[in-house]
Amino acid sequence: MSTTPTSEHQQLAAALTEGLALIAASGSSEDLRGVMSSLTGKKGPIAALKSSLGKVADIEARKELGQLVNEALVTLQQASEAHSRTLRAGEFAAQIASERLDISEVAMSAQATRRRGRMHLVTQATERLEDVFIGLGFQIAEGPEVETDFYNFEALNMPPSHPARSMWDTLFIESDVEGSVVLRTHTSPVQIRVMQDWPPPIYAVMPGRVFRKETPDATHMPVFHQIEGLVIDRGITFADLAGTIESFTKAFFGEGFTSRLRPSYFPFTEPSAEFDIRRPDGSWIELGGCGMVHPHVLRAGGLDPDEWSGFAFGFGIDRMAKERHGVDDIRDMYSDDIRFTEQFS
Ligand code: DAH
Repeated sequence: MSTTPTSEHQQLAAALTEGLALIAASGSSEDLRGVMSSLTGKKGPIAALKSSLGKVADIEARKELGQLVNEALVTLQQASEAHSRTLRAGEFAAQIASERLDISEVAMSAQATRRRGRMHLVTQATERLEDVFIGLGFQIAEGPEVETDFYNFEALNMPPSHPARSMWDTLFIESDVEGSVVLRTHTSPVQIRVMQDWPPPIYAVMPGRVFRKETPDATHMPVFHQIEGLVIDRGITFADLAGTIESFTKAFFGEGFTSRLRPSYFPFTEPSAEFDIRRPDGSWIELGGCGMVHPHVLRAGGLDPDEWSGFAFGFGIDRMAKERHGVDDIRDMYSDDIRFTEQFS
């Protein structure tokens, strides 16, 4: 077997070296494909060597050279495949990078124009009310919106068919015993639940959503909010009630405001009153009801009226938010109309 380098050998070695250099220098898959087709194509150096094989007279030398040519081809192809993998990985990464949806960038640019949201006017009012009552030493309690007739009416001194039930246009929930489950018409049932659950003395306020069968108009909604107050202790008198209402009025509305109580009727309090708030300009806002907790109600809450006495009050929150912000139509507060909500941000 001849080992003497012939000019074909030299050409092959040169073609291989140059080919490998060209492959390594290809900057993209496309370039590489071009390089490979010119290296291995019909007009390429390898093809030229193959066709010159016929000129090698010595059969062994021709065989050997043919084998070397094939090996060179395989070497070039392997180099090309290896480089191609590297190139494709880079190209894929570049594609990913270019097609990437940069959410952080969107968020950043949105931040420049985004306007801050705000809590609903009623939520703001509720939180302020809670703050003021906490400042006066009250705790917060909550009860269910779907109530039984017992808590909504009966325990509040309204046995079945009591005429005062008609003070609340009630929405009923379908149930096995017709009329026994209601959407609470007021937050007063939470008084009973608190009395049953907490040992006295009790100083609690109970905010929440209430429901009435009502057609919406400028001052009424079928769904609205109330806050209930309950104080149970030894020796509580009507003077404590009046003093608490007055303290609350000044703390919530300001020093220039005062309160008054007018005799009224509620089945769960005796005596009962309505309370109004006097603005600094002398005009009055009707706010809610209150009174001394009726002995029947104390008993329904599991308390002995000979040992404990107390007062309760309740009023609408939506009305207060409406007053505070000068909203003409209460329905606007629930319209979700941005032109309305924007005015308060
Ligand atoms: N629950 C009454 C209503 O919705 C308001 C009320 C009046 C609550 C007197 C009270 C109270 O706690 O003592 O009309």
